[in-house]
Amino acid sequence: MENIRIIPMTKEHIPKIAELEKICFSQPWTENNLEEELDNHIAHFFTAVNDKDEIVGYMGSCVVCESCYISDIAVFPDYRRKGIGRALLETTFRMAHNKGAESVSLEVRPSNTAAIALYSSMGFEEVGLRKNFYRDPVEDALILTCDKINI
Ligand SMILES: CC(C)(COP(=O)(O)OP(=O)(O)OC[C@H]1O[C@@H](n2cnc3c(N)ncnc32)[C@H](O)[C@@H]1OP(=O)(O)O)[C@@H](O)C(=O)NCCC(=O)NCCS
Repeated sequence: MENIRIIPMTKEHIPKIAELEKICFSQPWTENNLEEELDNHIAHFFTAVNDKDEIVGYMGSCVVCESCYISDIAVFPDYRRKGIGRALLETTFRMAHNKGAESVSLEVRPSNTAAIALYSSMGFEEVGLRKNFYRDPVEDALILTCDKINI
């Protein structure tokens, strides 16, 4: 992996992350949504930056008691398959473990083979399905969890 640093998300990162959201998702988080998360004490957002301090990816999660829930992860297309998604997940696993979480869960579209491949490689397993969870287009969500987060 090139020289990538994973750092806590700040207000200055938000416009670029909102741009990334629009590229990746049909119902993207807005700048306002992201700003609200900065004030949410159970939310933990990380930004991936390269050696020129350019934002290349980000990830958000929240920790409640023994559970960590991943709300979003995205990497700019030119930076994919370089280990950045994995590095963001590993940082989140360490944070969640340090806060007492014992498992991490998330939802993913069954059609999102790249994300499912990443999650499987990190030890996530399918535990359920939410019918018609997504919009634009409508699709079920697979529920995945990982309980091997002490890495
Ligand atoms: C999913 C996503 C975050 C992965 O980020 P990434 O930085 O490309 O992932 P990594 O480079 O860390 O990949 C780690 C491993 O995951 C698997 N993987 C990732 N992308 C893959 C793909 N397109 N096809 C097959 N396997 C893939 C591979 O095992 C890979 O290891 P390898 O490159 O050594 O083979 C990225 O594709 C993305 O931003 N997608 C759009 C947003 C999105 O769908 N987010 C998930 C919402 S649930």
